[in-house]
Amino acid sequence: MGGAVVKKGRIYEGKAKVVYETDDPSTVIIEFKDDATAFDGKKRGTIGGKGEACAAITARAFEYLESCGIATHYRGWISRREIAARRVRILPVEAVVRNVVAGSLAKRLGLEEGLSLREPVFETYYKSDELGDPMVNDYHILALGLATREEIAVIERMSLEINRHLTEFFDKAGLRLVDFKLEFGVADGDILLADEISPDTCRLWDKESLTKLDKDRFRRDLGGVEEAYQEVVRRVELAHGMAR
Ligand code: TMP
Ligand code: ASP
Repeated sequence: MGGAVVKKGRIYEGKAKVVYETDDPSTVIIEFKDDATAFDGKKRGTIGGKGEACAAITARAFEYLESCGIATHYRGWISRREIAARRVRILPVEAVVRNVVAGSLAKRLGLEEGLSLREPVFETYYKSDELGDPMVNDYHILALGLATREEIAVIERMSLEINRHLTEFFDKAGLRLVDFKLEFGVADGDILLADEISPDTCRLWDKESLTKLDKDRFRRDLGGVEEAYQEVVRRVELAHGMAR
């Protein structure tokens, strides 16, 4: 259905994506770029084929979540690096769900990367480039008016449910979903899962070897960055692809 809209002016350009309005006021087109940043933009680079890889993985993940009954902004594929999505107001609260210790959790609590958590950990961060997305709790979110109590509750419930579905989605592709970041948007009073689901926003390890197949290869200069993104696309398409 997304193919019917006509792309118009650019509304927003972020570090990894460009958002365009369309002739339908309720639909935007999201273009995925090859540009990569890390550490709040202090590290910059280009990952060949990343835009197409992230668009493909995002499309498959959102199609899967929709089939599981999760409300998302996804409206369809437009081209190899573009998807159509419902126009939303993005809430300035990022949700992170963790199944395995890695990244900032390992650092903050002095834990070894790779330790399985007894239950998933849900965290919230204030979406602010200037501040470097600091971690916040419900009190901060309410006191600063970043979201309402109801919105926080919905985000938490949806994030944990999405974790169950995405864990299965990636497991079928031979990948362990270590942790991930989600963004939510509001449209006509509905809270929808928005943004993207890709190796830029998820830590994905090979189920058997625990090889990192995500943006940590770029963040930590591990090499084989392009290959890792291509490998995730290949596996997701193999496990979830249908004739398009
Ligand atoms: P962290 O361990 O650095 O806090 O990251 C947790 C998860 O969130 C990890 O899967 C990567 C993702 N993430 C983003 O998508 N954007 C970000 O800006 C950061 C810091 C992490
Ligand atoms: N959002 C972070 C940045 O641009 C990237 C990351 O670590 O995922 O700098």
